[in-house]
Amino acid sequence: MKQQKSLKGLTIVSLILLTLVFQVSAESTIPSIGVIANATVDEGDDVYLDCPITNKTAASKVQWFRVLPGYLHISNDGSLVTKNTEKYGVRATTTTSVKQQELNTVTLIIKHASNADVGRYRCRVLISQVSYPRWPSKDAFVSIAAPPMILSVSNTKMVSAVGEDVTLTCRGYGAPEPTITWYKGDAGTNIMGHGEVLHLENLRAGDGGEYRCEVDNGVPPKAMETYHITIEQEPMCSAPQLHVMQAKNIFQPALMTCHVTGYPVPKVSWKRYTIHGIQTIFTSKYDIHNIMPKDNSGVITSVLKVYNVTSSDYGTYICEGTNDIDKCTSEVRLLESRLCVGPRCDSQADPSDSSSDHPRTVTTPSPSDDDDDETQHGQKAPHKDNGGIVMVPSVLTTSVLLLFVFFVTK
Ligand SMILES: *[C@@H]1O[C@H](CO)[C@@H](O)[C@H](O)[C@H]1NC(C)=O
Ligand SMILES: *[C@@H]1O[C@H](CO)[C@@H](O)[C@H](O)[C@H]1NC(C)=O
Ligand SMILES: *[C@@H]1O[C@H](CO)[C@@H](O)[C@H](O)[C@H]1NC(C)=O
Repeated sequence: MKQQKSLKGLTIVSLILLTLVFQVSAESTIPSIGVIANATVDEGDDVYLDCPITNKTAASKVQWFRVLPGYLHISNDGSLVTKNTEKYGVRATTTTSVKQQELNTVTLIIKHASNADVGRYRCRVLISQVSYPRWPSKDAFVSIAAPPMILSVSNTKMVSAVGEDVTLTCRGYGAPEPTITWYKGDAGTNIMGHGEVLHLENLRAGDGGEYRCEVDNGVPPKAMETYHITIEQEPMCSAPQLHVMQAKNIFQPALMTCHVTGYPVPKVSWKRYTIHGIQTIFTSKYDIHNIMPKDNSGVITSVLKVYNVTSSDYGTYICEGTNDIDKCTSEVRLLESRLCVGPRCDSQADPSDSSSDHPRTVTTPSPSDDDDDETQHGQKAPHKDNGGIVMVPSVLTTSVLLLFVFFVTK
């Protein structure tokens, strides 16, 4: 009896050894599973899941399972295990590749797919001499085609300031999995990015407007969401030239410039300080020309033109920019100059010569301001005499001038 027992022990040991040897020899020929494509089908269509196997051995079996929802052993190689032949089918094919290698494909067929068939399926290769954890296995997913839909979005109406960052999100669902594309403006025009998140950094005035996220998976219709971004910026005013000069009474204009930024685009107006307080400028004495921004900079250039400058025009002018958020002001002073300032001075230089500042002509004086300025000694003489009095110094200065010129040229 004791001997029999030890004999039994021996055979068990040798059996274990044998299986070990088999395992080692089987190692070089463990079959492997290639890529199993997920399947998305229209409801009612049949599903085909191909499980491609290389190096299949006689000691192996290719099995299909449904893993989720509910575990179900469907097939072994080319034959069904489940009794549900209405729903399932299986097909095993063998092809020889270019490299003279055998390729076995075991195809699981799910007939008339419905939502109940949506789930996870597994192809596994059972190898009798190899322990279970080393059996190759791969999963594939079956889904019913579903048009894309939008699950959640970030705030679709946003107010932001220039220089800030904004993040828009758009989460979609669909079968197959949809892709998300971001547009500025209408869909299909200006692509801003892809994926669930769109980052907009360092916003500028021109970045405001409509944005769209489009969710598409090839199953119509596409899903779409529209976002509105309003960019706000308080107005800011600046004057490139704080002082503007012009001579009076020479029918020349003075031009004052002001730069205004802000969003929404500010309205620009001009005012001036008067003895009656601050008054808005609007009469035909003035012209206001606003050059609106054409680029992203958003700078409005406003030019105030004061026609035919006279002494009453000198003073301080105020440029004012106003939008929904705030207002800004900037001041420009119009100062008197002795000489004409501006590009049109040459052509209209003559009137300036007759002004009170340069009495250097011999022509008969006219009853102008000059008289008031220069004859301030006592009462005004009668006009005729007055002319004579002025005449004498004029003749004198002219002769002195002539003499001077004579000597200098000699
Ligand atoms: C098939 O087996 C051969 C020899 O054992 C090996 O060289 C090859 O890599 C295997 N192929 C795959 C796809 O595993
Ligand atoms: C199948 O779908 C799953 C889950 O969506 C994914 O992880 C896997 O990579 C897909 N397989 C293929 C071959 O695309
Ligand atoms: C400025 O003066 C010129 C010349 O006298 C005159 O023709 C013009 O109408 C004046 N313009 C305004 C706005 O007063």
